[in-house]
Amino acid sequence: MSKKGLFIFSAIFLVGTLQSQVTAGIEEDKQALLDFLHNIPHSHPLNWTKDSSVCKNWTGVTCNKDQSRVVNLRLPGLGFHGLIPPNTLSRLSALEILSLRSNSISGPFPSDFSELVNLTSLYLQFNKFSGPLPSDFSVWKKLSVIDLSNNGFNGTIPSSISNLTHLTALNLANNLFSGNVPDLNISSLQELNLANNYLTGSVPQSLNKFPSWVFSGNNFSSENAMPPALPGRPPNAQPSRKTRKLSEPAILSIAIGGCVLAFALVALLMIFCYLNKGDESGFVAKPHKKESSKKGASESQDKSNRLSFFEGCSFAFDLEDLLRASAEVLGKGTFGTTYKAALEDATTMVVKRLKEVTVGKREFEQQMEIVGGIKHENVAALRAYYYSKDEKLMVYDFYDQGSVSAMLHGKRGEGRTPIDWETRLRIAIGASRGIAHIHTQNDGKLIHGNIRASNVFLNSKGYGCISDIGLVTLMSPMPPPAMRAAGYRAPEVNDTRKASHASDVYSFGVLLLELLTGKSPVHATGTEQVVHLVRWVNSVVREEWTAEVFDVELLKYPNIEEEMVEMLQLGMECVARMPEQRPNILDVVKRLEEVRQVNTGNRPSSDSKSELSLSTPKSDTKEMGTSSLPQ
Ligand SMILES: *[C@@H]1O[C@H](CO)[C@@H](O)[C@H](O)[C@H]1NC(C)=O
Ligand SMILES: *[C@@H]1O[C@H](CO)[C@@H](O)[C@H](O)[C@H]1NC(C)=O
Ligand SMILES: *[C@@H]1O[C@H](CO)[C@@H](O)[C@H](O)[C@H]1NC(C)=O
Ligand SMILES: *[C@@H]1O[C@H](CO)[C@@H](O)[C@H](O)[C@H]1NC(C)=O
Ligand SMILES: *[C@@H]1O[C@H](CO)[C@@H](O)[C@H](O)[C@H]1NC(C)=O
Ligand SMILES: *[C@@H]1O[C@H](CO)[C@@H](O)[C@H](O)[C@H]1NC(C)=O
Ligand SMILES: *[C@@H]1O[C@H](CO)[C@@H](O)[C@H](O)[C@H]1NC(C)=O
Repeated sequence: MSKKGLFIFSAIFLVGTLQSQVTAGIEEDKQALLDFLHNIPHSHPLNWTKDSSVCKNWTGVTCNKDQSRVVNLRLPGLGFHGLIPPNTLSRLSALEILSLRSNSISGPFPSDFSELVNLTSLYLQFNKFSGPLPSDFSVWKKLSVIDLSNNGFNGTIPSSISNLTHLTALNLANNLFSGNVPDLNISSLQELNLANNYLTGSVPQSLNKFPSWVFSGNNFSSENAMPPALPGRPPNAQPSRKTRKLSEPAILSIAIGGCVLAFALVALLMIFCYLNKGDESGFVAKPHKKESSKKGASESQDKSNRLSFFEGCSFAFDLEDLLRASAEVLGKGTFGTTYKAALEDATTMVVKRLKEVTVGKREFEQQMEIVGGIKHENVAALRAYYYSKDEKLMVYDFYDQGSVSAMLHGKRGEGRTPIDWETRLRIAIGASRGIAHIHTQNDGKLIHGNIRASNVFLNSKGYGCISDIGLVTLMSPMPPPAMRAAGYRAPEVNDTRKASHASDVYSFGVLLLELLTGKSPVHATGTEQVVHLVRWVNSVVREEWTAEVFDVELLKYPNIEEEMVEMLQLGMECVARMPEQRPNILDVVKRLEEVRQVNTGNRPSSDSKSELSLSTPKSDTKEMGTSSLPQ
């Protein structure tokens, strides 16, 4: 550019700047917002009316102290779709916090956002943005929080991000970024997530302080002790810091003392804000907690949608607590994702975020009231629930020993204490009692519908305690089972997609077999063959009756063979192909309770009979159990 040209350019620029300084004010901001709203389709109404006060009465809008400018704009989950109309939001030049998370906004990163020079927090997560990021991030000198996760952004991560000296949080997870990660040597950076992109090369030294999961799901070269990257990108990437790390129930480790509405609420809201809507409060923004929390409440579009708590808990809840909580994915199941929500005081709740709920609010609430009303020592108490158009949450107690699935299948070998036989018996007895109780509820119409080891916990007495009740009713037809859940589903349910008491008994039978064999209902063998537990047990038992079927961890306990055989017999009856051939759950309870009684007192003292009872081939499985008992 010639000098003259440069001069003219600067002059125009200057005039432009002056002009905007002169004219920028609350009325201009208001007009900019209206221009935005009128030019972007949205599926939820927004009460921005021309004659009301933009600072006082507009949802999602916050002004500065003297109400001369709009400084925060939070419009999460309003169903915005299409492109951000150009030259609308960019006119809010005093904007500091912009949240458009959890909409369906598409198109490229709006180039005119470069005019929002005072931006400190940018939340665009959970949209459908695509294309590359602007190469120059240095224009946002004050940026502290960037959450662009769960979009379709591609190209490389701009190296200019490393110029953001105030950056505390950067979340780019679940996009299509490729290429190398720039050296983001930013001392203020506390939170980072780059998981599930197509990044390559090696992780820069300066980022080694972050845990490995933040880089997972990429194609980094192995020299940086990376954990095994998860294959591919999950179809429905869940928002969470730890998400994909645990695809099955796993981690459990905090006791819940007593009852905990506070936590529930906190957990709920936390999940609600942070995970579901992908909120700013969760992922990020320790520095912005205050603002977030103040806004948090007013962000909710529908005030009537509150958490509903069940009796027996008193709560005092504070959004600040909530925002300090952290969440972790425990498992992903057929009906949704389960999170462990931990508060700073080490209290923990389990929050289940349901997907594919097909019933309306009323029906949902009715079902929750039924489930929440169950008080039984073998049924995990539902503490609270939340229903809104976009989110359905359930809050349960957290069991510190973890699920039976985690106990059985978690970390075999290395210094693990196997679950002994008595514990397994108590798990079975407790769970069966819980199911029997469930089957009496709602005039005998309540169905569990999702019995599996990951939904069974140990209560304070060490007996099984069953969770996750009655969700099938909320989703009809039943969603196809998650891979791990498939092995529990009764054959007829696969056709009819309808659960019943008999299908619950089938699932419980699979659980019994799982307790006996220590094997997952569906598991791969070395040859990558998928093995269905029920089929496998049937075939082993049919061919030759050996101890092979039992968990090797159980074989060291003496004198339990006949009890195991008894339970095996019962388990196999429960998984009978025809529903009408399966026993009633009350019979199952009774027989399980008798497994031990039968054998106490007159248990043979020698080991010799065990060989006998375990190795007698049987062609008729129906008789196997009893006939192999020593006379
Ligand atoms: C819009 O909704 C918010 C929150 O529900 C309320 O505080 C505000 O007064 C409403 N504004 C108008 C113009 O109705
Ligand atoms: C606007 O907000 C003020 C207080 O913030 C309230 O008194 C008034 O009723 C609101 N107006 C509308 C239309 O909601
Ligand atoms: C940006 O923030 C600074 C400091 O808070 C303020 O002086 C300035 O006026 C703001 N810029 C705009 C365009 O509002
Ligand atoms: C990024 O995505 C756009 C379409 O959204 C595509 O045209 C472009 O080629 C992609 N770029 C890269 C580097 O993959
Ligand atoms: C960082 O900013 C400096 C000066 O503003 C600029 O020279 C440099 O190119 C920027 N770095 C990146 C990586 O953009
Ligand atoms: C990061 O930058 C600091 C100075 O700003 C420097 O001392 C340090 O060595 C850098 N670290 C890496 C890993 O580049
Ligand atoms: C990952 O990198 C390896 C070697 O660099 C390459 O062979 C492979 O195709 C890459 N995978 C993907 C999914 O890009």
